[in-house]
Amino acid sequence: MKFPSETENELYTDLERVLHSEDEIQIRVRELGKQISEDYAGKPLVLISILKGGIVFLADLMRSITIPHAFDLMGASSYKGTTRSSGKVIITKDAELDLRGKHVLLVEDILDTGITLNVICELLKIQDPLSLEICCLLNKCRDRTVSIPLRYTGFEIPDEFVVGYGLDYREHYRNLSCIGVLKPEVYSA
Ligand code: PRP
Repeated sequence: MKFPSETENELYTDLERVLHSEDEIQIRVRELGKQISEDYAGKPLVLISILKGGIVFLADLMRSITIPHAFDLMGASSYKGTTRSSGKVIITKDAELDLRGKHVLLVEDILDTGITLNVICELLKIQDPLSLEICCLLNKCRDRTVSIPLRYTGFEIPDEFVVGYGLDYREHYRNLSCIGVLKPEVYSA
């Protein structure tokens, strides 16, 4: 039995338009997994994803990576049921693995203001990993006060509020298989 398609999800009707379909995402994730497998071959690799939004991407990406690696999870939140960052990142969970002597690849769903990744990177640097890079599925095209270099990017997207594939609005829409722009009436109601 297959997973339901993106259009079978009743939340699909709340989308103004689809930015990246399930098929496009799956193809891109496999490309990223192949590239990461080549780049980190023979190296001790730890993927770290950020709860909650990053876990859907992590689950697919790690199965597209063909070299041994560990993974860990951190928790961070800054949007709290709104479409704009509060500017304050609350760390809800720290990583558990010892990262010394490891190459760390952060696996994140979206780079928006950059505030979350900036805080997470500073925390991880304290553990002095061999390297610290970022693989981000969505890079929102917008001005930022902080510069966040991405080693791997899935898609560049416009500056609009998007949901699906892990990304939420008030905790819903994470289980959409595609990524889309939410109808404004959904969050202005
Ligand atoms: C979202 C997303 C990223 C972050 C990106 O998380 O999953 O972690 O915002 O935004 P930024 O670049 O402006 O910091 P959110 O705070 O909504 O928590 P969630 O993942 O639990 O939904």
